Amino acid sequence: MDILRGINENRPWDLIYEIRKVVKTQHRLLDIGCGTATKLIQLASITNYQEIIGIEPNERMRFKAEENIKLANLDNISIVSGSAEDLPFEDHVFDVVTAMVAPHNTSEVHRVLKPGGHTIIEKIGDRDKWNLKALFGRDSKGLRGQFCDYDEGEREIEFREEFSHLFTEVSTKNGFWKTYYSFEGLILLLEQTPTIRGFDRIEDSHVLEKIVETYMTDRGIITTQNRILVAAKK
Ligand SMILES: C[S@@+](CC[C@H](N)C(=O)[O-])C[C@H]1O[C@@H](n2cnc3c(N)ncnc32)[C@H](O)[C@@H]1O
Repeated sequence: MDILRGINENRPWDLIYEIRKVVKTQHRLLDIGCGTATKLIQLASITNYQEIIGIEPNERMRFKAEENIKLANLDNISIVSGSAEDLPFEDHVFDVVTAMVAPHNTSEVHRVLKPGGHTIIEKIGDRDKWNLKALFGRDSKGLRGQFCDYDEGEREIEFREEFSHLFTEVSTKNGFWKTYYSFEGLILLLEQTPTIRGFDRIEDSHVLEKIVETYMTDRGIITTQNRILVAAKK
């Protein structure tokens, strides 16, 4: 089990399947914020796509991604340094652009896509891990939980509107599923992601105790994941 991802119940969609619905073997695909390239390797292992490029600003992630690609023995995935806000590519060069729980810039995605190209983006929803975030309360900037100041469903509406300005055939889904974290898995998640602003294992120990007391089950600490799936065509 990947300690950071916890034990997941059935997800409402399979992201790799959603991408495979639009990408053809002769296509060039760009994945923004590819991390360690695990999902790209999954994708490339099913079909021999012409070219897959992962862009990733973090050097350690890029190094791990290269290692994983070598281990998987794939020669159609390359990893490039760069960030979502300023993609280091010419206009209209990709058939598909993806971003899987990574930052994206809608006009940059539109710029690098060929006419008729597709984008599939998965984002964190505003009700993600809500039960846990709610216990962390406020600091001087407001609620500490990421996206806790959004109304329910507001992020989905925001993405639909944002993409509709530039793209056609925009569709969005707001999906939920349960996950169980080990205590150490939850700590890692809170320390390594922006889920809770200013998280500190010692200073927040009273909140962690409350989480264990309230949400620990036989399978681990229960929470609900919320993701938004955006699909659109240029
Ligand atoms: C939650 S990880 C997701 C990794 C991968 N997409 C996956 O689904 O396994 C988010 C990734 O986005 C990268 N990232 C952070 N800021 C970024 C930016 N401005 N542009 C592109 N990627 C970024 C991070 O370094 C990290 O690898």
